Amino acid sequence: MSREAHRVGVDIERAVVIITSGGLIGLPTETVYGLAARADDPLAVSKVFEVKGRPRGHPLIIHVSSLDRARLLSEQWNERAEALGARFWPGPLTLVVRRASTVINEVTGGLDTVAIRVPSHPLARQLLERLDVGLVAPSANLFGRVSPTTAEHVLDDLGGSVDYVLDGGPCLVGVESTIVDCSTDDVEILRPGAVTEADIVSVVGSTSPASGRTRAPGMLRSHYAPNCAIVTVEAESEAVSFRERGVLVIDAHSDPESFARDLYSILRRCDEESRDMVVIVLPSADGIGGAVRDRLMKAAAPRP
Ligand code: TXA
Ligand code: MG
Repeated sequence: MSREAHRVGVDIERAVVIITSGGLIGLPTETVYGLAARADDPLAVSKVFEVKGRPRGHPLIIHVSSLDRARLLSEQWNERAEALGARFWPGPLTLVVRRASTVINEVTGGLDTVAIRVPSHPLARQLLERLDVGLVAPSANLFGRVSPTTAEHVLDDLGGSVDYVLDGGPCLVGVESTIVDCSTDDVEILRPGAVTEADIVSVVGSTSPASGRTRAPGMLRSHYAPNCAIVTVEAESEAVSFRERGVLVIDAHSDPESFARDLYSILRRCDEESRDMVVIVLPSADGIGGAVRDRLMKAAAPRP
């Protein structure tokens, strides 16, 4: 059939060969699809930046198969990271810790910390378990655009540049992992995700309020942005006048989990349908709602 059919599938052996020889894979995870390359190879890592159009200073997450593997990437693994990893891995949580000297500068953007995650998606786990290196995997979209949550989204954005896409079906969470900085005594949430602040507090006792300084380079105010204008409202009543004018209104309030799963497909569809505007009724900030609000605020923010 098509060239695309040939480049998408569930062939782990093929993915192992491509990764080992420095190629790029579309990798399904429970959050979003990643653009994966071996994390110990400066050339492979630099291809990831090039293909995404991502500024070199924006550090990447290293994905590994287990907590044991994660410890090896840090020279100062601490009890906070240990407790959080033990509780939430494999799963949608990324931990920032002091890096080991073996982690290459291309991955960390020269920082003395590294971000690490153990994903739970079965195909990601199978691939990672077959490798003796970790995988960098930023979301498999062009820089600043909407993250992919299906193999088809990856092909739409980066089809010409990936060697193979592992098709793991639609992502179950739908928004990127929670990022928690455990590199200092104050545990700080850098990006909200499916693992909530309450979840983190239940393990480490407390978190420090966002410090304001950008501990996560590349976390921009405008991001996750479709071409279509996004307007967010807090209540259905605020959406009435839009509806009356024929503007599409989407309810993210009643079922935030299912909305999170569909969020990036919805934003992509708005662009495909060349809509000028969509109005979204925000969920409350509980549970996954916090992450959904964060992404929608960023999608709605004015472009730089
Ligand atoms: O769910 C996810 O995390 C997905 C899937 C594919 O695993 N990956 C993902 O990667 O969202 P990416 O590159 O799109 O976002 C990673 C974020 C960046 O915005 C960066 O700021 C932050 O992680 N990051 C990476 N290394 C860091 C470090 N050492 N210190 C602080 N932030 C870091
Ligand atoms: Mg991203």
